[in-house]
Amino acid sequence: MNSGRHARFGRSFERRTVYIRLISFAKRTDVSGDLRGEALATIGTWASPSVLDRVDGRFRGEIKRDSIIVKQKIEGDIPVFLKDKDPNILIGTSKILGTLGITSYNAQLKSIFYKDRRPAVRVAMIEALGELQDVEIASLVKKGMQDSDENVRAAAVQLIPDLNIPKNKLPGVIGPIFKNGSVREQQGMITALAEMPLEQSGDALKSLIQKAGYNQLEPGVILDLIEAVESTQSSELIASLDRLKNSGYSVDSYKEALYGGRNWPGANVFKNNSAAQCVRCHAVGGAGGKVGPPLDNIANILSREELLESLIEPGARLAPGYGSVTLTLKDGQVVSGILAAENREEIILKTSDAEPMEIAVSRIKKRQNMPSAMPAMGTVLSKRELRDLVEYLSNLKGK
Ligand code: HEC
Repeated sequence: MNSGRHARFGRSFERRTVYIRLISFAKRTDVSGDLRGEALATIGTWASPSVLDRVDGRFRGEIKRDSIIVKQKIEGDIPVFLKDKDPNILIGTSKILGTLGITSYNAQLKSIFYKDRRPAVRVAMIEALGELQDVEIASLVKKGMQDSDENVRAAAVQLIPDLNIPKNKLPGVIGPIFKNGSVREQQGMITALAEMPLEQSGDALKSLIQKAGYNQLEPGVILDLIEAVESTQSSELIASLDRLKNSGYSVDSYKEALYGGRNWPGANVFKNNSAAQCVRCHAVGGAGGKVGPPLDNIANILSREELLESLIEPGARLAPGYGSVTLTLKDGQVVSGILAAENREEIILKTSDAEPMEIAVSRIKKRQNMPSAMPAMGTVLSKRELRDLVEYLSNLKGK
């Protein structure tokens, strides 16, 4: 017991001296801005009072004392840091203020937010002011949402749940985003709505569902809307999702996975998802299996709709060269073979004959596809993963 206490004391003593060294490092003018900014950011995260929540009760006192000491040590230097020209220093300092809950420099942070030309700096300022629950956060968010830079706008949108906007004012905030905002901002706004208490966001969600039902929303945000509504657990709202059926969205349509996904997470599903195992059968860039066709150029061959269909219902359309079909012709003849090519007029089959067989579509009475060797992905992947995959595949335009 005793030795434990000593160890803790020792560690916290060490932490304090490290802070002091970091602070003096950050003040050096002969070091690059990146490194000084990094030193500042480190101070911010180490002394973070948010650590309190995650730490065992016995440690709390010491960490709190720690952060008070850091506060005392650094407060005198803050005004100098906030006058620095280097974006790293400004960003690092705003992070310290935010995590240590120091509100006495909010005026300076705001003035930087309003004046600085660099979007990354504006993002850091509005994030810190949000964390510090600045009294003027509402007008900051409003200003941020009109910023010329998408990242600043998205950072502002994410603060909306903190605003406690009265219900009747919410449409005025949301409206412009759904009129002029990018898909990412709209997705961010819907996520923000999902975080708000239902009595505040319910009407807004209801009206978005209505809009979606009339095809007045970006297709790229429908999945976010459906997931946000489902997360409210309100049976009334969830029931109103039925309206979306009017525009073709239904439990088994998967239409909401067509647009709005992200390329990079989609590539990650393709390469790494252990349930879907795409690369076991498909190659991109030469790497991967050969059971299915290589997909390097698939976006030039299949539309988004066809890509989604080949994931959900692989048997519906067979990739030429990769599936067998049996055709019953109008004269009673039955032929089977590997589908080599097809278009609206004819189907070309590879059979045991040397020459491929060309059959006019008009001669065909019945067509049976052999089940595809590709597993259907509808229950293997989430809709979000499918949406990201479609985005990824629809960008594969190699060769
Ligand atoms: C067990 C092997 C296997 C796995 C795993 C597999 N596929 Fe397939 N895939 C196939 C075969 C075989 C075909 C060709 C037959 C067909 O079109 O259904 C195919 C067809 C496709 C097509 C249509 C290609 C075309 O030219 O028409 C796409 C797109 C596709 N797969 C994507 C994927 C993705 C994305 C994954 C992972 C989520 C995946 N596949 C997982 C075997 C597989």
